[in-house]
Amino acid sequence: MEYYTLGRSGLRASRLALGTMTFGTESGWGCDRATARALFDRYLDAGGNFIDTADVYSGGTSETWLGEFIAESGTRDRVVLATKFTHNFANTGADPNAAGNGRKHIIRALEASLKRLKTDHVDLYLLHTWDRLTPVEEVLRTLDDLVRQGKVRHAGLSDVPAWYAARAQTMAELRGWETPCALQLEYSLLGRGIEYEFPALCQDRGMGLMVWSPLASGMLSGKYRPGLSAAAQTIDGRLKASAKASAPALQKMTERNWGIVAELERVAGELGRPMAQVAVNWVANRPAVASVILGATSLAQLDDTLPALDFDLPAELEARLDRASALPAAFPYAFIDVMTARMHGGANVGAKPARYFDLPQTRRGGWG
Ligand SMILES: NC(=O)c1ccc[n+]([C@@H]2O[C@H](COP(=O)([O-])OP(=O)(O)OC[C@H]3O[C@@H](n4cnc5c(N)ncnc54)[C@H](OP(=O)(O)O)[C@@H]3O)[C@@H](O)[C@H]2O)c1
Repeated sequence: MEYYTLGRSGLRASRLALGTMTFGTESGWGCDRATARALFDRYLDAGGNFIDTADVYSGGTSETWLGEFIAESGTRDRVVLATKFTHNFANTGADPNAAGNGRKHIIRALEASLKRLKTDHVDLYLLHTWDRLTPVEEVLRTLDDLVRQGKVRHAGLSDVPAWYAARAQTMAELRGWETPCALQLEYSLLGRGIEYEFPALCQDRGMGLMVWSPLASGMLSGKYRPGLSAAAQTIDGRLKASAKASAPALQKMTERNWGIVAELERVAGELGRPMAQVAVNWVANRPAVASVILGATSLAQLDDTLPALDFDLPAELEARLDRASALPAAFPYAFIDVMTARMHGGANVGAKPARYFDLPQTRRGGWG
């Protein structure tokens, strides 16, 4: 297992993290306690140290089990423990301050998470989702207070717009507050929308990109039948189980996506590797990616993906996957590309000499 310092921090985290959104059966697509424990043990045995959860996962069960596993295995110091606040899993509508990113909720959420996790601190505390309401100063000051109190070691953001992350990072830096060192976002061969803005932002501002849903909720494992809707699939899995509840905007089984899955299948076949490994390898080696969070509902699935970084994806195969899943050119970047030659009066200013600024931290996954 390889480790990275997470963004511009001193926190050493493994490149493959363990996701625990599947710990618990409340969602209808998770796993039982014995399986969760087996996943936890296997991940640590493989050398991993970075475990991601959230207060909302399985209505608190994920944090509760994880707290028990860590206590029983005596691994609290070794584990880099990440959790998140924002959502109200009771969802009764009775108390608007029992959710969101306001100070009142953040402090209450952390106290509840620490209790479930049976610890006095978390190593990375992330805002889970932008609430569109709370001033960024309030979020940052609260996180900074929690770091100073010793209850949080590092701060991070998840599921926020790029402008918000840039504003938060810059403001924290200028005011001397704890700067977010991680940005957790959805990223896979089927979901490359973050590429327009986020990798450059992460590299410029010193945030490590933590990838969620690297297999697009299992679709990139290749187990679903092409051409069928999620509800019509015959194999069990999250995409089928959540087909009715899933919003149309989050629908993954589209014609475009089946084309990408088909190319992944061909590439994986040529490499002699499972599709899931190739999908994880591809995303782990994208610019600014620090860690890829693996999700599983069985030990066999984790065993399938854990060796994902044990091989190099040949450049020509990587290029084929890039082409099959490429995003359309978009303004302003496509326009700036076209105009770049005119900006320097025809002189070649853009190209940098080889190894220019090639410090260890500036390689893939680090900051630039
Ligand atoms: N910040 C956020 O908003 C956010 C959002 C989502 C997730 N996350 C984090 O990211 C982690 C990973 O996300 P994810 O679970 O969506 O990741 P994912 O890799 O896209 O999906 C994992 C699911 O794919 C299926 N799968 C995994 N490996 C497989 C294999 N080898 N063969 C066949 N099927 C396989 C399993 O589901 P089935 O068995 O049901 O098919 C598994 O639960 C979560 O645990 C959580 O920690 C964060």
